[in-house]
Amino acid sequence: MSDNYKYAQEWKESAQHFFIQGDYDWLAMQLNGYSTILELGCGTGQSTIALLKQNHKVIAVDKNPDCLDIAETLLYSSSISPAQKTNLLEFVEVDYADDNFVSSFLPNHNFDIITCWNVGTAGNANVVAEYPEIFAHFGFTNEDIQANPSKAYGDAMCLLACLMGKRTNVPVNIVFRSPTDITPEIEEYYSNLGDEMGFSTFIINSRKTTSLSEGGKLLSVNNQVSYNELIDLFLISVTLK
Ligand SMILES: C[S@@+](CC[C@H](N)C(=O)[O-])C[C@H]1O[C@@H](n2cnc3c(N)ncnc32)[C@H](O)[C@@H]1O
Repeated sequence: MSDNYKYAQEWKESAQHFFIQGDYDWLAMQLNGYSTILELGCGTGQSTIALLKQNHKVIAVDKNPDCLDIAETLLYSSSISPAQKTNLLEFVEVDYADDNFVSSFLPNHNFDIITCWNVGTAGNANVVAEYPEIFAHFGFTNEDIQANPSKAYGDAMCLLACLMGKRTNVPVNIVFRSPTDITPEIEEYYSNLGDEMGFSTFIINSRKTTSLSEGGKLLSVNNQVSYNELIDLFLISVTLK
């Protein structure tokens, strides 16, 4: 079984749990007013379906072909209306950290906002070898990365999404899991990030929820993983604009 396949199967379970709880509907509601969404890392598609249901048009990209296969099957067997299904403009297999994505894909697509939801679980101890330039660009040290590869990867991919937002002149919506509700430190981090990246303001909201750890991808919350129970967490949605 390939790593991609295993990841896709595990994430499908975790995402389905969020989906059933209405978490993706809540996340999609944070994007009211934005028509076309570039969804970076659409995973197994439950997030995409929630966006389409709320009549957003979506360009959905992911680097894992097994996630995209599941997303496609899920979408076409879902109960959303045929009209809402046509809101999906494209499912694209691509690594958005590739130079080509910035040089060829972005200039040839129109969208009103970029989303980057929950990308951290795709990171593991090998990410340093896969993305040395990205980590170097954002000033991560090897110690930062090895201390919590998932978090470092998620942070780096969100920073990359912010750069793309600035480059294409659109807002960026980041979603991450947190063991705590919004703290002053979290607000300060995004306020500083917005300043550094040249955004003028940010909107932050949270939702208390549970996550399925059994059968799910390592859901790192405070670096703790449990496979046998639901864990409480907060989904934090931040829009930098
Ligand atoms: C944890 S899943 C989240 C999926 C979806 N956003 C959600 O919230 O359900 C993270 C997804 O991001 C994708 N991903 C991570 N880094 C990526 C990259 N550089 N380019 C494209 N996809 C990426 C992974 O393949 C994975 O499917």
